[in-house]
Formats: sequence, C-alpha cells, structure tokens
Amino acid sequence: MRVSEEKIVEIRKSVNIVDIISDYIPIEQKGRNYFAICPFHDDHNPSMSISPEKQIYTCFVCGAHGNVFNFIMDYENVSFYEALKIVANKSNIELNIDDYNQNIEKRNDNNNLYEIYDFAFKYYQNNLLTKDGKEALDYLYKRDFTDEIIKEFGIGLSTKNKLTKVLLNKGYKNEDLLNSGISSFNDNIYDTFIDRIMFPLWDLDGKVVGFSGRIYKTNDSSKYVNSKESEIFKKGNLLYNYHRAKQFARRKKSVIIVEGFMDVIALYKVGIYNVVASMGTAITKEQARLLKKLSTNIILCFDGDTAGNKATLSCSKELTDIGIYPKIIRLPSPLDPDEFLSKYGKEKFDEYLENPKSLLDYKIDYYRSITNFNNSEEISNYIKNVLSELNLVEDKIVKEIILKKLSDETNISFSTINGLLKENTKKKEKKQENKVTFNKYEKAERRLIFYMIRYPEVIRIYENNKCNFPTKEFRFLASEIIYYYNKHNCLSIADFLSYLNDKEELLEAFKKIDTLNINENYCYEEIMDYINLLNDYSIKERIKSLTKEFKKENDFIKKTEIAKEISELKVRV
Ligand code: CTP
Ligand code: MN
Repeated sequence: MRVSEEKIVEIRKSVNIVDIISDYIPIEQKGRNYFAICPFHDDHNPSMSISPEKQIYTCFVCGAHGNVFNFIMDYENVSFYEALKIVANKSNIELNIDDYNQNIEKRNDNNNLYEIYDFAFKYYQNNLLTKDGKEALDYLYKRDFTDEIIKEFGIGLSTKNKLTKVLLNKGYKNEDLLNSGISSFNDNIYDTFIDRIMFPLWDLDGKVVGFSGRIYKTNDSSKYVNSKESEIFKKGNLLYNYHRAKQFARRKKSVIIVEGFMDVIALYKVGIYNVVASMGTAITKEQARLLKKLSTNIILCFDGDTAGNKATLSCSKELTDIGIYPKIIRLPSPLDPDEFLSKYGKEKFDEYLENPKSLLDYKIDYYRSITNFNNSEEISNYIKNVLSELNLVEDKIVKEIILKKLSDETNISFSTINGLLKENTKKKEKKQENKVTFNKYEKAERRLIFYMIRYPEVIRIYENNKCNFPTKEFRFLASEIIYYYNKHNCLSIADFLSYLNDKEELLEAFKKIDTLNINENYCYEEIMDYINLLNDYSIKERIKSLTKEFKKENDFIKKTEIAKEISELKVRV
C-alpha cells in the first residue's frame, strides 16, 4: 500500500524539524534560523542552516538540502519509508505499512533468491562443523580465526557436489538456482562452489546476497570465486561489512576502507570495527557515495603494493569528485592490513591509524617516488604535478610549506616555482570565468524555477509566456512543479521535497536550485528577462538545426524554404 500524500504531510507537520535535527547534532540559534556543523561533509564551521519557517535545512557548502525526512534518510542511512516511520513513531501517528513499500516489492520479486542464499548460508556453515570441515577449520585457525569470528562472519564450507541436489529436492527450479549463482550448468546442473571456504556477502541491510569462496588446499588455481551478480547482488553497489560497520563508523566518526574482506575480518579480530572492503575492484561512484554516508572522515588503507597504490589514487578521485578529501595509510610494501597485523601486531597498526597522511602529502610523496631526480624533464614534470595539486589548496601556509620543500629538493628558486603557481591559478580562474558565461541559459532556468517554487504568481507568469528549459532535468522539474501546484493549489517546499522522494534525479535538480544563494525577492521584469532569454535559446537551437538541415538538403525548393525559415527566426533574436 502506498502512503497518501496527505498522510505524509500530516506526519511532516507533526514535528518541528529544529527539534528533530537537534536530537542528532548540536544546533545554535542565530536570528530567525538555526545553525549546525553540517554532518554531511567535512565541516569546520556551522555551514548548515535550519529554517523553522520553511521546515527545511540547507548546507551552503556541500549542498545538502531537504526536509525532516531527507535529514533522517541521510543521517541514519535509511529509505524514505523508514524515515517516515521514525517520525510517525515519534508523534504516535499510526502508519500502516508493514515494511517499506519499495523494498517490499523488490523483495517479493526476488524472494526465491533470498531464500536460496539463506539456505546455502546455513548449509555451508553446518558443513564446517562436520568432519568434512576439519581441514578447512584448521586452515582458519592457522589464520587466527576463532569460533566466535567464524560465527560472526557466517563463514562456512562448500563440500562435494550436493547442495544443488538438496535445493532441487526442496522444490527450487534449475532456473532459480542458476540465477542465484549457487549452481552452474555445463551439460548438467552442478554446484558452483566445491571445496571452498565460503564467505557470505551481505547487502546494505545485512541480508545475504552472494558468496565468495576461498581455496584452502594448495593445489587449486583461482584464489577466490564469487557468486555471479544478480538482481539483488551488484558488486559495485555494496561494500563488504557495510551493515555491521555502520554504527561503529558513526560512533568513531570515521570509516576505514580496505581491499579484501580478509582484511576487514583481521581488523575486527583486533577490535577495529569501523571497516568496509571494496572487494578487489576499483570503487564505483555508488560505493563512494556509500562511504560518504558512513562518515565524511574516510581513511584509505589499501595493500602496500603497486596495485594498492593505484587503487588509492582512483578511490581518492571518486571521493574528491563528491567533495571528500580522504586520509591515506600506506603500509610497507607489499603487505595488506591482514599481513601487517600478523607481522607487526595491533600497536604498530594503531601508529599508522593515528597518523594517516593527507591526500595532498600522499600524492606528493607518490609523484616524488616516480621521479628520477637526475633527469631534468622528470624534475620539471614533478614540479608541474605538485603545482597542479596545490592549485586546489586554499590554505596559504600549507602552500608555502610545500613550495619551500619543492624548491629545496629540486634546487629551483622559490620565486620561479611561486611564479609558476600564480600562472596556473590565473589560467584556472580564466577557465572558470568562461564556464560561467557559457551557462547564462542555465542560470536563467535555475533562477526562474527558484522563483516559481516560492511565488505562485511566477508560476502563472511562466504559464502565460511558455518557454523551453534547455536542461532536461529542469524541464521535467518545471512540469512537476506545475502539476503539483495545480493539484494542491499551493506549494510548500518541505512537502514538495517529500513528493520528489522517489524521483532521485529531480530531487538532485531541485536541491541545486533551492540552495542558490540569490535574492529571495523578484520583480516582474526580471522573470520576463529569464523567459525571453530561454526563448532566445530555443530559437537559436532551432536555427542551428535548420542550418545543418540546409547544408544537407539537395532539393533546391526545400533549401529555399529552410533558408526562409532561418531568416524569419533570425529577426526574432
Ligand atoms: N578477489 C576476487 N577474486 C580474486 C582475487 C581477489 O574477487 N581472484 C577479491 C576478494 O573479494 C578479496 C579482494 O579481492 O577480498 C582482495 O584480494 P586479495 O588482496 O588478493 O585477497 P586477500 O584479502 O589478501 O585474501 P587472502 O589474505 O586470503 O589472500
Ligand atoms: Mn591477505
């Protein structure tokens, strides 16, 4: 059952966003608004404002923005319906959704898969405790696994080709088993995993959605085999141990990411719980987003080898793209965290953990390590690389420290290097300026929508003077605004945000607009300017496409017609 819009509004209005947010983080009143250190980015000053009047919060640094539900969703990392439930509970409002609509639908469709994994999970675990499991268990003990750890991480064992038969007897179809990846087909259906130590893989909610099987007898070839991706298991959309690390990351105010799940478990053994693993592949945008949700203080601790270095650089790139500057731990080559711990122990690891490098220092160290200081071209490249990193740094002292060091180690004068940096900065600024003028239409469409969501009159002006929005998401957003307005005869930003809860792209577009730092008041001429500008844009686009057509057209009469249309349009802009 869907929850009605009216019910959602009722639940939202039953609380004051100021009270709810202050349950989570300290807030401070200044004038009409409240302010807080933004929990959604690495914030040092209170950049988040909370408006009791509008019942929304906004961070002007990272763009976090939303109503009370959005805050809970992002802070607690829950779905819209879970947030709805949390607020309804606080206000003692009855809410008849037994679970969270969207997930439920998805879950029902994939019920078989969940059941199969659940059965296999228990089956594998049981195998480990039988006499067939003796050798595997010895292997685990040798690697310092205790019975508690084995239980906590649900570790099991696949034995001879039997599970497929058991599952078929239980009534599952070949198709289900093949979809799950538990079974494979080659002339006949058989167990994908035979004689491997089985590590369950969980989704974000802690449900088993796949397995990774490790060899433990020396004669096998590939070290790990993973169950294949399915409807509910997409490797790039999850992080190993996410569901367990969530609470610890929050408490510790940091999260550590490692490459292997063995590393997660090794750290768990020594009492470090706020750890997730990327499971060997380069992290995806989605995984970066998930990390950011766990904490804005992210520590990368990949393997000490060259592959680990590569992973560190690519993971940092994904994180800086979403505004997070991770800290870096580089272990001595080629150790991974698990090997480091067995070799040097927890105390030594703690030393690393307490002194992670800044991303900037890490990158500079990296550039230095690949430079041959007897080769002038390489020195020049080294300097250029470091300067391009410095371009992104605001802190003048950090800049000066690094420039001094750079000058010392390369024997190039401070003033030369500083001059280069200034040149770079100028170039960068110029680029940004160009970008801004390029976006004048985008600016117009954003501003027009900004005023539409604040003033019904502006919606009416727009409706009377129709124009096109060049950007797809803003175009859709504008039509949603008009639809919503006509249906409800009013538009409260806080409720419109709930309305957008399942339209992620539009919600993002909406955030971009509602966090614009511009004058709240408008005048009629200004609105007409935007509309005219956007109309000009449509006409110019039309002229462009007609010109293309004109060039391609061979028929003389048609060519003349196109030319006529072009010249008519040109008069209008
Ligand atoms: N991996 C994989 N397939 C492989 C090798 C690795 O899927 N053939 C993934 C696994 O998820 C593993 C991660 O990559 O957790 C890291 O791989 P690696 O560093 O090779 O494994 P370790 O964590 O060191 O495992 P172990 O200590 O058991 O060798
Ligand atoms: Mn290892």
